[in-house]
Amino acid sequence: MHYSPQNEECPMALNPFKACVAPRPIGWIATVSRDGIDNLAPFSQFQNLSYDPPMVMIAINQGGDEPDHVHRKDTVNNIESTGCFVYNAVPYDLKEQMNITASGFAPEEDEFEKAGLHKAESVRVAAKRVAESPIQFECEYMQTIRIPGTMAGGKGTVDLIIGKVVEIHVADEIILPNGKLDYRKLRLIGRAGYWDYGVMEDTFAMKVPGVSAARMAAMEGRKPNEADLEKDKKENSL
Ligand SMILES: Cc1cc2nc3c(=O)[nH]c(=O)nc-3n(C[C@H](O)[C@H](O)[C@H](O)COP(=O)(O)O)c2cc1C
Repeated sequence: MHYSPQNEECPMALNPFKACVAPRPIGWIATVSRDGIDNLAPFSQFQNLSYDPPMVMIAINQGGDEPDHVHRKDTVNNIESTGCFVYNAVPYDLKEQMNITASGFAPEEDEFEKAGLHKAESVRVAAKRVAESPIQFECEYMQTIRIPGTMAGGKGTVDLIIGKVVEIHVADEIILPNGKLDYRKLRLIGRAGYWDYGVMEDTFAMKVPGVSAARMAAMEGRKPNEADLEKDKKENSL
């Protein structure tokens, strides 16, 4: 099968575009309006962007079903007017609550309350954290890149939000003695296509060959130690 999405109808019964990039992590994004109303919604067009400084990005489509009555989603309005947001991870056990927060609630409605979730105050930003989520990033708003869509009325336009991660919270129960996250306990969910999701329950490790010990340490998430530096010195002198 092959087709050009720019000028051909998809020949498959269901459009595979979203399903082909899977699983996509879900950014469960908490924000607050200028009037102090808390907001929470999931976004699977979400990723970490880089590490220096640590940044994340969220691609938010326009709300509204009528082609000529589209609007920016509450999450975008809140981030731009208060300058912050919180990323909350979604483990399997919180999937139902996450799903409730995706319903199109009005700006004056609080999705934390609708989903029966507790709020935790953030350390540095005004947006709250989902107390039940084992991982949260407090983020400061950096930039919106508004990318125009091709549909009449602007339904396809997307707001790509970039935020700097300024505080990282990880629940002690999911930290293994070796310093890694316990993915078996975490059971993070990801979005596939259609209405399908995946659960990350297992991992395997595979190191890139020919990488210096110092680089290897950085990839592992630690500073290189004496032994790493010694090893690199020896290899460089061969
Ligand atoms: C798993 C999941 C992933 C979603 N991903 C996105 C996304 O990446 N971009 C988007 O615009 N909407 C996405 N949505 C829909 C939003 O969550 C939904 O429009 C929500 O009501 C937006 O809330 P807000 O108006 O408070 O910002 C997703 C929904 C679900 C259930």
